[in-house]
Amino acid sequence: MRAIVVRDFGGRPEPGEVPTPEAGPGQLRIALEAAGVNPYDQKLIEGALKGQVPYDFPFVPGLDGAGTISQIGAGVDGYEIGERVVGKFFVPPLGHGTFAEFIVVPPDTAIAKVPDEITAIQAAALPTAGITALDLVNASGLRAGQTALVVGASGGVGSYLVQLAALTGAEVIATARPDDTDRMIRLGATEVVNYGRVPVTDSPTRPEDTQLSIADSVRMTRAQIDVLFDLVSPPPGFAENLTLVRDGGGAFSTVGSAVEADLQTRGITGGNFVSSGGAAELRDLLRKVGNGDLVVPLDSTPPLDGAAAALGARGARGKTVLVI
Ligand SMILES: NC(=O)c1ccc[n+]([C@@H]2O[C@H](COP(=O)([O-])OP(=O)(O)OC[C@H]3O[C@@H](n4cnc5c(N)ncnc54)[C@H](OP(=O)(O)O)[C@@H]3O)[C@@H](O)[C@H]2O)c1
Repeated sequence: MRAIVVRDFGGRPEPGEVPTPEAGPGQLRIALEAAGVNPYDQKLIEGALKGQVPYDFPFVPGLDGAGTISQIGAGVDGYEIGERVVGKFFVPPLGHGTFAEFIVVPPDTAIAKVPDEITAIQAAALPTAGITALDLVNASGLRAGQTALVVGASGGVGSYLVQLAALTGAEVIATARPDDTDRMIRLGATEVVNYGRVPVTDSPTRPEDTQLSIADSVRMTRAQIDVLFDLVSPPPGFAENLTLVRDGGGAFSTVGSAVEADLQTRGITGGNFVSSGGAAELRDLLRKVGNGDLVVPLDSTPPLDGAAAALGARGARGKTVLVI
């Protein structure tokens, strides 16, 4: 079958051929139509779990995928050939991922049936980023009347998180480069803080700056926020953004930047967050997309052979999905 293959840790992903997998007992085979791209795919290629989880080479990347059931192994109930499904497939040994025509998975993984009104491309854009965003909102207890700041709002997780946070009735401040401001408002942000080099004329704290920090920009309109969702900042940036959070509020880093003792001394919940949601959260997201509460934020949909350019790319404006 056609697949994207990586020959060794840190290697360049390239189109190749690997044997088509067969569904053994207790397994499902999915004929993939679309595969969502996540930053973690590139991190895994670079060896993020080397020594902790077995890897097979040539390594086929990809955690998220959608398609149809093409083979059902002995002992698997509840599925039919041709049924449309989507999933987040973290199945060791790693290296048998979704950037391929077929994948074999156990049915107790994060898998869900796809309603007719949702395309395979939309479905493949949901799992990792959508589940993470939903897990973050659920963990924070965010509610109407509160204010949340989403740092890194333009990307995959952020484009879902802005919408899901707004659905709680909370006010959402989103960071975005100036060209992405309108999209953030359409997704439900009440306010957008631009980052990068933006002209500054009225900074209260640093009038000489031409590049205002996110925290300074937020302080121009309010003294405090209730919840910080920081999807991108390294530790110093997270610590600065944390100064916005009220004592007893919530603050979450998806990139391991929180110093948890600093949160505890101020009664702030959260810290370094690892998404653990699965099939139930995926079904919830599919329901929300189906009833129009959640928009699937698609950035680009290159063909499978475009994986090398998509992996590790910067400047995400929602999700990139490979079309198989
Ligand atoms: N812990 C977990 O369970 C978990 C789960 C999912 C994801 N993650 C991690 O969370 C991070 C975000 O994931 P993602 O899928 O949303 O990534 P993504 O799609 O690549 O989005 C990242 C976004 O952040 C923006 N950005 C970069 N630097 C920024 C800054 N200094 N200030 C504001 N925005 C900035 C980028 O736009 P520009 O390039 O234009 O700035 C891009 O739009 C990744 O590191 C991922 O690995 C962790």
